[in-house]
Amino acid sequence: MAESSQIPYLLRAARGEKLDRPPVWMMRQAGRYMKAYRELRQKYPSFRERSENPDLAIEISLQPFRAFQPDGVILFSDILTPLPGMGIPFDIVESKGPIIDPPIRSAEQVENVHPLDPEASLPFIRTILQTLRQEVGNRAAVLGFVGAPWTLAAYAIEGKSSKDYKIIKGMAFSNPEMLHSLLGKIADSIATYVRYQIDCGAQVVQMFDSWAGQLSPQDYDTFALPYQKRVIEQVKATHPDTPLILYISGSAGILERMGQSGVDIVSVDWTVDMADARKRLGPEIGVQGNIDPCVLFGSQEFIRDRILDTIRKAGNQGHILNLGHGILPGTPEENAAFFFETAKQADKLLAVR
Ligand code: CP3
Repeated sequence: MAESSQIPYLLRAARGEKLDRPPVWMMRQAGRYMKAYRELRQKYPSFRERSENPDLAIEISLQPFRAFQPDGVILFSDILTPLPGMGIPFDIVESKGPIIDPPIRSAEQVENVHPLDPEASLPFIRTILQTLRQEVGNRAAVLGFVGAPWTLAAYAIEGKSSKDYKIIKGMAFSNPEMLHSLLGKIADSIATYVRYQIDCGAQVVQMFDSWAGQLSPQDYDTFALPYQKRVIEQVKATHPDTPLILYISGSAGILERMGQSGVDIVSVDWTVDMADARKRLGPEIGVQGNIDPCVLFGSQEFIRDRILDTIRKAGNQGHILNLGHGILPGTPEENAAFFFETAKQADKLLAVR
């Protein structure tokens, strides 16, 4: 008992232990809704600098940890961070989001995408993760994260955020060999990158396939799921004990398919009722989520009710409390604080109800 209390709650939940309350963290918990982040952003306007200068990235990762003591600390980075190391440069432009110029559109460009050597191109990730582990100790788990092949290919091919994904889907439906070749290359590099993050100190890794929910189930089975599996199989072969989480936005129609990817935990968005998600995924798979980020714009009473409702629906085993997608810019910081406080007292609050 004494020994297991030294293990962060998030890891205990990921192992399927019964707990008195679920661990809690938030996707995008470092970022623009925090005043401390906005101040630092004014001084260092380049996103790449903020995420690739270890001192800045460590400071930003720890801002929400100091403010709210979440059970998970995610490294401040982006899913696009490994792309330059594969020959795909990017930038993140204020009010436009990610830009990849030139986008990958030809067989020759796909040919030129090369395997990632993380020691060479991502040395800052080692410093960031090692330092976070030292700073956080066993008070919280340190999470790494990556983008999944479909979502990274969507940025590489579209060149920016997209509403309809017509360029990558056009390629999928007219020249699938070319897209499969790119997806395969990205999958192998991302597997290398996940292993590197674990070797550098990440205790849990979340894979974001944010835009795979834009695919029909049939196309998900062809262009997203096999490449999620390829990453997960390669990582599990060398690092079988590190829990892996899979997140997709708009996943209600493909939840069972997400469970087939080989991940330990499925991160559910708010378009699915948590009790249904549990039933649909079965007892072997943990769940994370799934509160609508807009709930944090509601009253504190409403926020508390939704937290307790979600916890009740998820049960006391294999659940990590989180939002259903990233916290939104403009969220009142005191409501974020209230979210964490309430989650951490959930055992007492549920007992009196
Ligand atoms: O959770 C955390 O605290 C880590 C931070 C994090 C960022 N990006 C920092 C960031 C994480 C987990 C990501 C992942 C990411 N990046 C995803 C998957 C998660 C999801 O939301 O589905 C995606 C699709 C991206 C690509 C990306 N990066 C977009 C679409 C944008 C623009 C978003 C916007 O609202 O402007 C980014 C930029 C970005 N990455 C920001 C942050 C904090 C905002 C830019 C800034 O702060 O200057």
